[in-house]
Amino acid sequence: MKTNVAFFYGCRSVEHEVSIISAVQAMMAINKEKYDITPVYVTKDGEMYTGEKLFFIEEYRDLPKLLENCKKVFFVRENGKVLMKQECEKGFFKKEIPPVEIDVAFPVVHGTNCEDGTIQGYLEFLGLPYVGCDILSSAVGMDKAVFKDVLMKAGLPVLDCIRFTSREYLSDKEGIQAKITEKIGYPLIVKPVNLGSSVGISKVNSAEELDEALTLAISFADKILVERAVTKIREINCSVLGDVNECFASVCEEPFMSDEILSYENKYLSNAKGGQSKGMASLGRKIPADLSEERSNEIRELSCKIFKAIGASGVVRIDYIIDGETDTVYANEINTIPGSLAFYLWDATDMKYPELCERLIELAFRRQRNRDNLTFTIDTNILSGVKLGGAKGTKGAKF
Ligand SMILES: Nc1ncnc2c1ncn2[C@@H]1O[C@H](COP(=O)(O)OP(=O)(O)O)[C@@H](O)[C@H]1O
Ligand SMILES: [Mg+2]
Repeated sequence: MKTNVAFFYGCRSVEHEVSIISAVQAMMAINKEKYDITPVYVTKDGEMYTGEKLFFIEEYRDLPKLLENCKKVFFVRENGKVLMKQECEKGFFKKEIPPVEIDVAFPVVHGTNCEDGTIQGYLEFLGLPYVGCDILSSAVGMDKAVFKDVLMKAGLPVLDCIRFTSREYLSDKEGIQAKITEKIGYPLIVKPVNLGSSVGISKVNSAEELDEALTLAISFADKILVERAVTKIREINCSVLGDVNECFASVCEEPFMSDEILSYENKYLSNAKGGQSKGMASLGRKIPADLSEERSNEIRELSCKIFKAIGASGVVRIDYIIDGETDTVYANEINTIPGSLAFYLWDATDMKYPELCERLIELAFRRQRNRDNLTFTIDTNILSGVKLGGAKGTKGAKF
């Protein structure tokens, strides 16, 4: 019998559309002889839909029409299984639609409200094995400030930063600006800690531009970080596949910028013919990156250390900044569900996309098996002698 894989994608995120591209690519690539595929498209409102038309990227151009041709679904746990059920059709002669048993979830979501541990929490709660990082590593990977903390503790190289909340900034703008000017200096970079695709990020060249950049950043997120801008910059990315017991790094890539900051447009819309973006796979890049063997090995080894330091699983992409002034490599960020699942890096490392998907699913089952061996319940008779004073005890309680 084939394994039924449910792809979850879309979601309430600024990277909703990119997630659709990544997921449709993965659903096209995966080996259909071995797996049955169930697309689960999550709308920006958090409603879940399935249907045959979801396999075709062109269909997403007219979303209301697409959803009319799909079925709204929900998931339940019954008798140790996870079932996808369709909402019953309205009317007297409503059709009973048989539930579909799901074996494993494959989240292909990007950004906050999903990639950050949210969807992983939902899947854990259902008790459904799933591909990729667990709740904690997803959350650490999404928060650029916490990611820095974890790496620093592990002795891994990151740029130092100042961080504060939007409330702190609004209540002491001058104080915070003065601290930034003194401790970081110009040029600097302002970033919301938990967004992707360069949303809300600005380069600031002087104190006069600082307030505008911070005001923009706090319109996107509650927590902000500021770090020095590397002016003689080279950006290198490397993917890692595996789990904390055993992981491998891909070849490195060098994405090219046409602007000061690698923007959303650079990332996803360049090379898009007739408006058809190929996701991260369409970005201008050099694979393998033009690096000495020594530097490339240094980055690949560093990537595995970072992967283990945050307790990652599945496939991730770690992005680096090389400061040309000092020839130092800094880890900039980790994408725990990278655009296009970084398949193009694995392709260049001699692993085709269908095999990458298969390995990811195997890792999901392996983690589940390890969990199944853990003890999650203990038998106690703690409730047998408990008295809470009967109904009287609850009198006046504020529930
Ligand atoms: N410290 C820095 N110095 C110079 N450029 C930077 C720095 N940090 C980020 N950038 C630029 O901004 C881009 C986006 O920043 P990044 O931290 O990768 O956020 P995102 O999650 O949005 O991709 C980077 O790809 C790089 O071009
Ligand atoms: Mg980035």
